[in-house]
Amino acid sequence: MPRSRTFRCSVFIGTSLDGFIARADGDLEWLTSRGEAAGGDLGYNAFIEGIDTVVMGRGTYEPALTYDSWPHDGLHVAVLSTTLEAGADPRVTVHRDLGELVTALEERGAKSVYVDGGQVIRTFLRAGMIDQITITTVPVLLGTGSPLFGPLGGDVPLAHRSTQVFGAGVVQSTYAVEN
Ligand SMILES: NC(=O)c1ccc[n+]([C@@H]2O[C@H](COP(=O)([O-])OP(=O)(O)OC[C@H]3O[C@@H](n4cnc5c(N)ncnc54)[C@H](OP(=O)(O)O)[C@@H]3O)[C@@H](O)[C@H]2O)c1
Repeated sequence: MPRSRTFRCSVFIGTSLDGFIARADGDLEWLTSRGEAAGGDLGYNAFIEGIDTVVMGRGTYEPALTYDSWPHDGLHVAVLSTTLEAGADPRVTVHRDLGELVTALEERGAKSVYVDGGQVIRTFLRAGMIDQITITTVPVLLGTGSPLFGPLGGDVPLAHRSTQVFGAGVVQSTYAVEN
């Protein structure tokens, strides 16, 4: 039974055709190069305009520290991790499990949450807490890497909302989750 909550949760993520979000060593060049070839922002700016909170796993947070600039200025960022030191980075809050995170988001008055990172997305899906999924698929098979999807407690029925074909064979589809 999905837990009742006061905020919506959305996924906006890029994958290979075989469903990987990063190579095993974290490399994303296969994705970014094809995204650049497709041109434009692939709908990211419109998506992020409606978001007040980003939730990510440590596996997504740590690589973001190496980017030229912090990607989420102006948004509250909550990181799920059992190992990160809490309070070490003033730009984020750290949460040890989903229950604690949900309580904290509700106390902060979060309304629209961007859920990022494969393990964390799967955690939210299993809890019946994802409302919308936008997947941008680039035309490559990686064979191995960090998966987007994995075992669930049961089927997750989806309603197709839209599909757009960009340049360079990049295809983006949005689904509503029928929780
Ligand atoms: N293609 C894209 O659009 C895209 C988007 C985002 C990320 N990425 C890439 O994907 C990779 C990361 O994805 P990932 O699936 O490996 O990891 P992830 O979901 O970002 O992070 C996994 C970590 O989050 C913590 N975690 C997850 N669920 C938790 C829970 N229920 N309770 C407490 N902690 C929890 C754990 O940290 P602890 O081990 O500390 O407990 C776990 O090791 C990176 O290479 C990143 O750059 C790609």
